[in-house]
Amino acid sequence: MKEVRVTEDTEDVLHVVGGKPLEGTIKVRGAKNFVSKAMVAALLAPGVSVLRNVPEIRDVHVVSDLLRLHGVEVDVDGHNGVVTIDATHVQLADVADVDTLSGSSRIPILFSGPLLHRLGEAFIPQLGGCNIGGRPIDFHLETLRKLGAHVDKEHQDGIHITAPDGLHGAKIHLPYPSVGATEQTLLAAVQAEGRTELSGAATEPEIMDLVAVLQKMGALISVDVDRTFRVEGVKELKGYTHTSLTDRIESASWASAALATHGDIFVKGATQPEMMTFLNVFRKIGGAFDITDQGIRFWHPGGNLKPVAIETDVHPGFMTDWQQPLVVALTQANGLSIVHETVYENRFGFTKPLVQMGATIQLYRECLGSLPCRFQQRNYKHSAVIFGPTPLEGRDIDVPDLRGGFSHLIAALTANGPSDVHGISLIDRGYADFRGKLEALGADIS
Ligand code: EPU
Repeated sequence: MKEVRVTEDTEDVLHVVGGKPLEGTIKVRGAKNFVSKAMVAALLAPGVSVLRNVPEIRDVHVVSDLLRLHGVEVDVDGHNGVVTIDATHVQLADVADVDTLSGSSRIPILFSGPLLHRLGEAFIPQLGGCNIGGRPIDFHLETLRKLGAHVDKEHQDGIHITAPDGLHGAKIHLPYPSVGATEQTLLAAVQAEGRTELSGAATEPEIMDLVAVLQKMGALISVDVDRTFRVEGVKELKGYTHTSLTDRIESASWASAALATHGDIFVKGATQPEMMTFLNVFRKIGGAFDITDQGIRFWHPGGNLKPVAIETDVHPGFMTDWQQPLVVALTQANGLSIVHETVYENRFGFTKPLVQMGATIQLYRECLGSLPCRFQQRNYKHSAVIFGPTPLEGRDIDVPDLRGGFSHLIAALTANGPSDVHGISLIDRGYADFRGKLEALGADIS
């Protein structure tokens, strides 16, 4: 019998009738995982910054609200994708107000450096973000301490950080190339006194775009081939004007949707350099693509899809965020595929509903890849074996997290018969107007 959920907001449920190829053109704007950081960078300079190609996603509103609580003027022109930030005046936010945004994103921790430079102190609320692993912030806090900040974790609602005498340069090594901790160090070191050397850093394209923004603002940052950043602290920074790089996670998500549904999608705005690793895998599976100046067309050229073995990794490896949508396409490939997740310990929870829909996916604690990863000999099911092709059947699905949720949408669109996907507002965090885009691609949704 179908469960009736009396308390649910009906707008949070998408009814999907699958089995129809997705066909048409959609436009992807700037990268969620860059735009939010560039907005934080604007806080460093007492002036006006303009960011273009900004997607209409919830994370942009969360960061805007947090900036406004600190006295910053933020204007979001969602239609044209332009955010204007005037950080001439910055003030301490009321802890209770900041708390209302706790749990909504992971970005607040990146406010630390800019707030310490502007005000000498910062209050960071409890962090949110997707439940795909423990997601500790120990590297962030260690970095801030090394740069001279005092970190007080006693406050029950968040973390109070102070640096009354300012930050100073330091030698920092990250035990793992964390994206967030690399950004934390850059945002804090640009105005710290003296030099900072950050080794073991991540160099994702979104980080390099942040470095470009910081350079426009007046920062001195260089990066070596061995993933070491060197920052020479400067006294003053100014506002910037910048156009965000395209969201390569969203682009790859639509590419996977084209493959799984036997579709043909032109992703306007998608760019090749940041997607090379994905494109290689897409081609190995049997997907077709055509790269133009305007974007990339992805399609299923007919015939059987082939299985692959992939390992997620930091850039230039195969992104962890590409993994979840692609797994749905792999359920339609002919044979045994292996995915070894080495970035997050717990990113296969989303496969359970896929199995209930008819997929054959087995999870393993072992490292099923060429190299053992950090999760070896630990109790995490971080390898998946997918056997296909398996027809999927529609059903009720609860969205677990952002990328897992989009994967469930792809599964529902691939499946025979109707599905109700619950909790779709989670997907708004990272996929701008995905309902409109699905309609434009001919999906049967309501
Ligand atoms: N880690 C620690 N300690 C830390 C920080 C990270 O142990 O202090 C570990 C994490 O637990 C994880 C690994 O390091 O196992 C990598 O985490 P990282 O810090 O690189 O991730 P993040 O900065 O929190 C960003 C993106 C994620 C993306 C990862 C990896 C944002 C807002 N989020 O997260 O995006 O998966 O980098 O590329 O930029 C998403 O968009 O759906 C998403 C989860």
